[in-house]
Amino acid sequence: MNLNMQNFPRIPVQQYQKRLQSLRSRMQSNSIALFIAPKARTRNHDVEYPYRADSDLLYLTGENSENLALIISKDDGLRIYIPDRDPDLERWVGPGISPENLCDRLGLSVSENIFSMQNLFTDLPELLKAKTTLYCDLYKPSFWRDDLLEQLGKILANSRKGQLPPLNISHPSILINEMRLVKDEFELEIMRRAAAISAVAHTATMGYTRQFQDGIDEFSIRNFLENKFRQQGSYELAYPSIVAGGNNATILHYTRTDARVLPHDLILIDAGCEVAGYASDITRTFPAGGYFQPAQRDIYSLVLTAQKNAIAKACAGNSFLSIHDEAVRTLVQGLWDLGLMKSIYWKGESMQEAEKVSPAGIEEIIEKEYYKLFYMHSTSHFLGLDVHDTGNYFLNGKSRPLIHNMVLTIEPGLYFPREYDWLSDDFRGIGVRIEDDIVIRADSPEILTGLAKKEIHEIEEIASLS
Ligand code: GLY
Ligand code: MN
Ligand code: MN
Repeated sequence: MNLNMQNFPRIPVQQYQKRLQSLRSRMQSNSIALFIAPKARTRNHDVEYPYRADSDLLYLTGENSENLALIISKDDGLRIYIPDRDPDLERWVGPGISPENLCDRLGLSVSENIFSMQNLFTDLPELLKAKTTLYCDLYKPSFWRDDLLEQLGKILANSRKGQLPPLNISHPSILINEMRLVKDEFELEIMRRAAAISAVAHTATMGYTRQFQDGIDEFSIRNFLENKFRQQGSYELAYPSIVAGGNNATILHYTRTDARVLPHDLILIDAGCEVAGYASDITRTFPAGGYFQPAQRDIYSLVLTAQKNAIAKACAGNSFLSIHDEAVRTLVQGLWDLGLMKSIYWKGESMQEAEKVSPAGIEEIIEKEYYKLFYMHSTSHFLGLDVHDTGNYFLNGKSRPLIHNMVLTIEPGLYFPREYDWLSDDFRGIGVRIEDDIVIRADSPEILTGLAKKEIHEIEEIASLS
């Protein structure tokens, strides 16, 4: 991940300091928080997967490195541990973290705040002394989890000498998730950039595919799209791209990307780039040849209407779930009007033998969730450093109200797999999803991904121009 791209917005030093202050203010008295970067994962033998920082560490330090540990004490200084320089290693992997750059970015002092990684575990017992709460992630396996627990156990076993280890251990998400959920202006600026790059790439791809009268491979479409991200300066994907032609679009997490797409097929592309660690997440669906067939047009228009209605619900004060409820109601009404839910074959959650059902109307379809035959995922998720970003969706057992500057996706879809042989042929093999990224405001949301065309006439116009 390139965090220092020229001309890209950055998080200024004051903002990193604000984040650290805010984190401290959320910590219990007499507590300490420990963040240790996970190691790169082995791909095979001695080859590793490309490294991508833990999002909490990225949020707090802006550093994309596996060689980093951060200790924040409620009342004392902040300590960052990095490895000592190793010229032999640097010949192979290049320079490691620069303490000066890191301190400039965070407004810290090398002499007071930077420590040698070699001393992390030997310093810990002293740092934990007399603390009552420790924030650290013991839920995930890590190279340090057992060591830390052993150290805590040793301190406890020796408690007759008058020292207890922190007896409250908390997950750091309790401090940081809600901070990450509401974006500051600098994060929004980066997310606008990521969204715009992805949106331009999606629109360009609509013009690309229609040139191939004999069809085109999903791989080639993916290459074209991802290359458009790179040409605009983003070299990372927020998640593996989904490029699915025809019936493949009905497979929600289709990533094979090895089939041929013909001009009359719809292509569903769910892909987004990352900028400075921040995700964009866009889905567009369009006819490879540029023009919608009648059944494709019906379904596409319905999903687009559902998406617009759902977007209209996305304002501060409304509940998170109200967006999904609106999308579902619009989709169900449209499916009913198209006659696609008068008689259905319902397998229920158990996927037993399908049973023929003839619902009385849309209320029954919603209540019994029959719509899940065609729409089985949720409509929104938070977006930020993680594509499925942090933050609770429920507060006190209720869907939480939306807040100014939350960023989320709105992505209804309809999927008619070929195996639904009881459906009219025209509809089988159609999968449509339309996904935009939005920022919550008091009234209508800011749409970050508006450069990705989605009106039918706009998509067909691109085809006629290219
Ligand atoms: N691309 C992942 C999602 O839409 O949730
Ligand atoms: Mn999404
Ligand atoms: Mn998506």
